[in-house]
This record gives sequence, structure tokens and C-alpha cells, in this order.
Amino acid sequence: MDFQNILTTSADGIFTITINRPDKLNALNQATLGELQSAVNIAKADASVKGIIITGAGPKAFVAGADISEFAGLDAPSGTIFAAAGHAIYKEIELCPKPVIAAVNGFALGGGCELAMACHMRVAAENAKFGQPEVNLGLIPGYAGTQRLVQLIGKGKALELLMTADMIDAHEAHRLGLANYVVPADQLLTKAAEILQKIFTKAPLAIAEIVNCVNAYYTSGIDGFRYEQEAFGRCCDTADFREGAGAFLEKRKAVFTGK
Ligand code: COA
Repeated sequence: MDFQNILTTSADGIFTITINRPDKLNALNQATLGELQSAVNIAKADASVKGIIITGAGPKAFVAGADISEFAGLDAPSGTIFAAAGHAIYKEIELCPKPVIAAVNGFALGGGCELAMACHMRVAAENAKFGQPEVNLGLIPGYAGTQRLVQLIGKGKALELLMTADMIDAHEAHRLGLANYVVPADQLLTKAAEILQKIFTKAPLAIAEIVNCVNAYYTSGIDGFRYEQEAFGRCCDTADFREGAGAFLEKRKAVFTGK
């Protein structure tokens, strides 16, 4: 597929999506969001892809937010639609059955912080900066920042960051649980790939069920405890469960097939 605003590469089971508008600090305009969604769907459908990394082009930014130049003219009905569209795309990332890691290489602000939070994990470069500055614009986060920030760092600190619009550095993000790791910028993609390669040695269907179960905890109307029991049962029906348990008993390394 021919993308204008993102770059994609695929190697060693890892599909890397790079938001590529460095002149605009990789701000997400609607076209870029659409391409991001298409790329995630390509990665999901491609059997050779086992995991995804999302990052930003250039040394300065992961994503500096939704593209503010597209905000003009938004009103209540169109603003709601605008937010719902972003929510839907980020939800697809959150529920992706393959692991998705945000490699945060600079500013992750507004929709950029929200994108990083929709990923399953975040690896931050030492120059990363996280924040939800929407109140500076008379807005609130519209791509689920008020929800996922609370889930990741707790209500009190989330309210502080959301109300003050303060930016935090990578080490503070790590301390708060927003970033899983902080690494030097030149090791960012290597670290993200290393985590993915470790996950690739596990049973893919079990990994997909982990994603479903953890998200069930945060989904109203779904009892995550009950959901886990059923997901455990589904795993028991897989060839990979028989392989994994058999390999343990036979004292050999399991070879999973995703079946
Ligand atoms: N939307 C649209 N354009 C953006 C953008 C955004 N969210 N963030 C940065 N840009 C653009 C700037 O307008 C500028 O474009 P220009 O060169 O054509 O004028 C370019 O990216 C570089 O940004 P600049 O502000 O000059 O860089 P800086 O290093 O001085 O500041 C930031 C970096 C991130 C602090 C600053 O760009 C900023 O505050 N961005 C907005 C962040 C935000 O509010 N995000 C949430 C949106 S809901």
C-alpha cells in the first residue's frame, strides 16, 4: 500500500510503523490516522507479522498530538465524531491480538501520548516527553487520554497531569508506570524489538487471550474474572497448549505454531 504520512517496514516478524511528518513533529492529521489504521490492519492480517512497533520519524518527536491545524470549525457534533474516530482506531490497537509496542522517541503529547497509551507497552528514549496539554487549547483529551492515563498511573497523578498540562520526562514516566523502560535513544528500537522477540517465543493464541483478558478488566459490562475462565478454557483446546505442556514434561523447548 502506498502511504504518504507513514513508513512501514517488516523484518524478523516485526512490522514497524513510523509516523512520518517530522516537520510537524509527526502530528496526526486525519490522513495520517487513516494510514495508521490501514497499516495496523495490514500487520494484523499478515501471518508473517508477529508484533508491531509504532514510532515517530526524526529525533524530536514520537507524535506531538492531533494536528491542531485541523481543529478549526469543530463544534459539538463534529467534535464528537472527531473524537469517536480516534477512539475507534486506538481501540483497534489496544485490542490487537499481536503485541504492539510504542517506541517513544521524543514528544508524546496529546494524541501522541494517547497513541502510546493505546499500545500494549511503552519503551521511552531518554529524550521522551509525555503530556496531555489539551487544556491549554480549551479542550480535553479526545482519544481516550482521560481514561487510559488513569488506568496506567492512577487517578490522582492523572488528574494532576490532565489539569496542569505538565510535561513529564522519560524517567518520571517510568517511575509512574507510564513507560515500561527508559533507554538511550540509539537503543530504543533494539529494546522494543528485544521485548517482542521474547514474546514471539510464547504461544501466539495465549498472547492474544492475554490482551483480551487484560482489556476485559477495563470493559464495562464484561466480568474479567469470568472472561479469564473462558479464555483459559479456549487455550486448553489449542495444539500449542498440548505442545507447551508436553514440552515441559519432556524437558525440551516448546515449538509453538499458533494453532
Ligand atoms: N499540530 C499541528 N502542528 C504541530 C503540532 C500539532 N499538535 N505540534 C507541532 N506542530 C508543528 C508546529 O506548528 C511547527 O510547524 P511550523 O514549523 O510549520 O510552524 C512544527 O510542528 C515544529 O513545532 P514547534 O512548535 O516549532 O517546535 P518546538 O520545539 O518549538 O515546540 C512543542 C515543540 C511540542 C512543545 C510544540 O510544538 C507544541 O506545543 N505542540 C503542540 C502540542 C499539543 O498541544 N498537542 C496536543 C494537541 S491536541
